[in-house]
Amino acid sequence: TNIILLGPPGAGKGTQARRLVEERGMIQLSTGDMLREAKASGTEMGNRVAEVMARGELVTDDIVIGLIEEKLNDDHAAGFIFDGFPRTLVQADALGDLLQKLGEKLDAVIEMKVNDDVLVSRITGRSTCGQCGEVYHDVTKPEPDDGKCSVCGASDFKRRADDNEDSLRQRLMEYYKKTSPLIGYYYAKGELISINGLSEIDTVAADITKVLDKG
Ligand code: AP5
Ligand code: ZN
Repeated sequence: TNIILLGPPGAGKGTQARRLVEERGMIQLSTGDMLREAKASGTEMGNRVAEVMARGELVTDDIVIGLIEEKLNDDHAAGFIFDGFPRTLVQADALGDLLQKLGEKLDAVIEMKVNDDVLVSRITGRSTCGQCGEVYHDVTKPEPDDGKCSVCGASDFKRRADDNEDSLRQRLMEYYKKTSPLIGYYYAKGELISINGLSEIDTVAADITKVLDKG
């Protein structure tokens, strides 16, 4: 099963993708994570895109399509979760071509619908475990009292450089201008399924499970 999780920054794509990895052994392909890894490992590309990301702008199509292309050659028995990709029509067409070459197809594009007003608090309250990537939130999913990650036990919580109100405003603008047209694109192909991203994390997960088990 191959799915896309589509939604604005803070919709909960990463949170739900991690659950699917754990529960179903699917492979999470997050271009945001790949770009942050490239930055952390100090590659030339990573350094080049870091400022673009911190401002909340989109990285060029060539770079992210290249990153996805590399990963799509891996073993893919349980299927892929595309998290934060595609984000433009050019990327969507490229993904279609890449999957076709592999003899694979998309089973569902899951649009996580949320209101803009919750996104500010979701983004500004977020922290992430630097060791295992578990996602926390100051209010809805606080870091454990003992200061240790509940998944891996590390004490290494991080906040992202683009998780501030100014960058978020830019990220939302990019989403509405360049990414939201994908909703109509996949709707026209009969692949779009919209779910309520405002529900609690467990409820959203149950809604996604329903979609996957139907298809
Ligand atoms: P990326 O890393 O993809 O970030 P994003 O799309 O902005 O999404 P986020 O990771 O911020 O949010 P999310 O939906 O995963 O939410 P999460 O689960 O963490 O991209 C970053 C940058 O990289 C881009 O701006 C761009 O520069 C570049 N980039 C990446 N891909 C690209 C591409 N394809 N093309 C071009 N450029 C690209 O949840 C958020 C918070 O809310 C957490 O604290 C969580 O605990 C909490 N939460 C989650 N679900 C719920 C819930 N149901 N109820 C209450 N709280 C919840
Ligand atoms: Zn951890």
